[in-house]
Amino acid sequence: MDPASATLRARQLREEIAHHDHQYYVLDRPDVSDAAYDRLMRELVDLEAAHPFLRTPDSPTQRVGGAPAEKFEKVTHRLQMLSLANVFDDSELTEFDERLRKSLGRDEVEYVCEPKLDGLAIELVYEAGRLARGSTRGDGTVGEDVTANLRTERSVPLALKVSAGPPPPVLEVRGEVFMKKADFARLNERREREGEPTFVNPRNTAAGALRQLDPAVTASRPLSLFLYEVGVVEGRSFATHVEKLAWLESLGLPVNPVKRLARGLPGIREAYAELLGRRHELAYEVDGLVVKVNDEDLRLRLGQVSKSPRWAVAYKFPPEEEETLVEDIEVNVGRTGALTPVALLKPVYVGGVTVSRATLHNEDEIRRKDVRVGDRVLVRRAGDVIPEIAQVVTTRRTGAEREFHFPKACPVCGAEVLREEGAAITYCTGAACPAQLARNLRHFASREGMDVEGLGEKLCDQLVAQRKVSGYAGLYALDLPTLAGLEHMGEKSAQNILDALARSKHPSLRRFLYALGVRHVGEATAKTLAEHFRSLDKVLNATEDELTLVRDVGSEMAREIGHFFREPRNRAVIEALLAAGVEPVPPEVVEAGAFAGKTVVLTGTLETITREQAKEAIERRGGKISGSVSRKTDLVVAGAEAGSKLKKAQELGVKVIDEATLVGLLGRSGSGG
Ligand code: IVH
Repeated sequence: MDPASATLRARQLREEIAHHDHQYYVLDRPDVSDAAYDRLMRELVDLEAAHPFLRTPDSPTQRVGGAPAEKFEKVTHRLQMLSLANVFDDSELTEFDERLRKSLGRDEVEYVCEPKLDGLAIELVYEAGRLARGSTRGDGTVGEDVTANLRTERSVPLALKVSAGPPPPVLEVRGEVFMKKADFARLNERREREGEPTFVNPRNTAAGALRQLDPAVTASRPLSLFLYEVGVVEGRSFATHVEKLAWLESLGLPVNPVKRLARGLPGIREAYAELLGRRHELAYEVDGLVVKVNDEDLRLRLGQVSKSPRWAVAYKFPPEEEETLVEDIEVNVGRTGALTPVALLKPVYVGGVTVSRATLHNEDEIRRKDVRVGDRVLVRRAGDVIPEIAQVVTTRRTGAEREFHFPKACPVCGAEVLREEGAAITYCTGAACPAQLARNLRHFASREGMDVEGLGEKLCDQLVAQRKVSGYAGLYALDLPTLAGLEHMGEKSAQNILDALARSKHPSLRRFLYALGVRHVGEATAKTLAEHFRSLDKVLNATEDELTLVRDVGSEMAREIGHFFREPRNRAVIEALLAAGVEPVPPEVVEAGAFAGKTVVLTGTLETITREQAKEAIERRGGKISGSVSRKTDLVVAGAEAGSKLKKAQELGVKVIDEATLVGLLGRSGSGG
């Protein structure tokens, strides 16, 4: 290729690559495959190898590399880089607007509102359309030359778009370098995998990345950039800020699409509320709203005070991370029996609320973060929900801090606690633990358990809250006045519950085992245990080895079951139930019962026995219960008001019997439910 065509092709390739970089790094909308992008890059590399004069610093092939520097050169900004005054609440904002209206002699000022990006300010200088220098703000007058580092970031355009017309001889643009939340998370994940210490927050990480002496290190940390102001520009002026931003955009420079024109104070308030609400959806961290006068002439008239302009202000969001003291660590027991450590904090205002407790999740989390009683910690409100500890401020340790030891016994009931292998959560094994009592009572009384009709969640909650019951056995000591005195209870429903309790005293062994609420022991396991051991005593005294021999019981489950029945508090619970007259019925040996091998469907309302009792009685006699009618169904038991299942059975010609017939069959073939 001759030099002229090579020059032309190289320019085309650079423009294409710059376009794809913009799509990918600024707009988050890649429009080519990685492979296609790599092909463009390779063609450019080859072209530059054949024509070395083409290999200029503004070529995208030159982004990686550059030798590590000894130190950063100082750069004096041609125009001072200002910073912003802050306002923290509505009254300070009102003062700002009043001050402006007064000095401009206007009723209303038009503002542009932008997110205040939480990164660090930089300045880029483009000379004849090419990136000549990039620098940090420094003290506003003198910053550091970080050109080599900025070049490695593909979010930073190396050249202005040519299609926008002839570039200005000199353009100084200001903006913010920051790290997106997702990039930060990915970077930390990578570091964790590689055993490197993780970074604290995106802002510090971005600042650290930019101030690396070795550009290769910067290159490995993805930074983003939005430009929002112009310093010196030759051959161009703007009537408004909005016009200026549109022009920057037309040059291919990254400009934040999130911005809003605001008329006067009400407009700012709206923009603030909107941004605060969207804050967590944004890809980057935002710590406030920047409010700027739109009209450039008005800006000139307003001028500046010391280091900040009079025409702009940062309306800060409430901070989301604050430092405070861990006064103690306590352990809560939830309704499921899970033990959750909680840090008790010196109250601190974070993200709009006062926080005095923060979850520590579990034992591992305490160890990972190394939180000790007496530590100074950074507290964060994650996604506006439960406050948590972001990190310990280890530099403030005095040596007087106390390490926390996770309890071996439940802090509420004193029963042993158990942590499953490979799991993070520790559970209380106490069947009578008050923290879990309401939930356990509900399970105990459930249809699949002791089948106490009418004893629902609300009633269980009331019984526990009003201390009417302190364990399962207490249910059997309830009397009519106590029950009838509860909310939403009449004398009739109270009597119904007493009757249901009386009826529940002879459960099958499997129901009884299920009702006890041993972790991992569901209906199926309870049935297997009952069929294997055939007596409560044998289950209670089974060793872990013996339990492992039971079908479908693994070693972890055997350990939990063993623990449960060995725990003295649980033994006491069972003793109390037996003393209250509860008598589990061991399963009978069935060879060929009346329902042997038959698939039975129950439908409609049964009146003389409960559906659960019918189900169990049929199963005990060798039948199998199914939920729906098909050609495989052998028998349908139709109670009162049977509907679609009965109809289907009739259509398919499946045999149908009524409740009286069922009860008769059950009576003839052995003991009832
Ligand atoms: S304008 C003269 N716009 O906030 C005004 N600054 O506290 C110069 N910042 O140093 C800044 N987002 O690092 C402006 N949309 C935004 C900004 C922004 C973040 C930072 C910037 C500045 C600091 C002032």
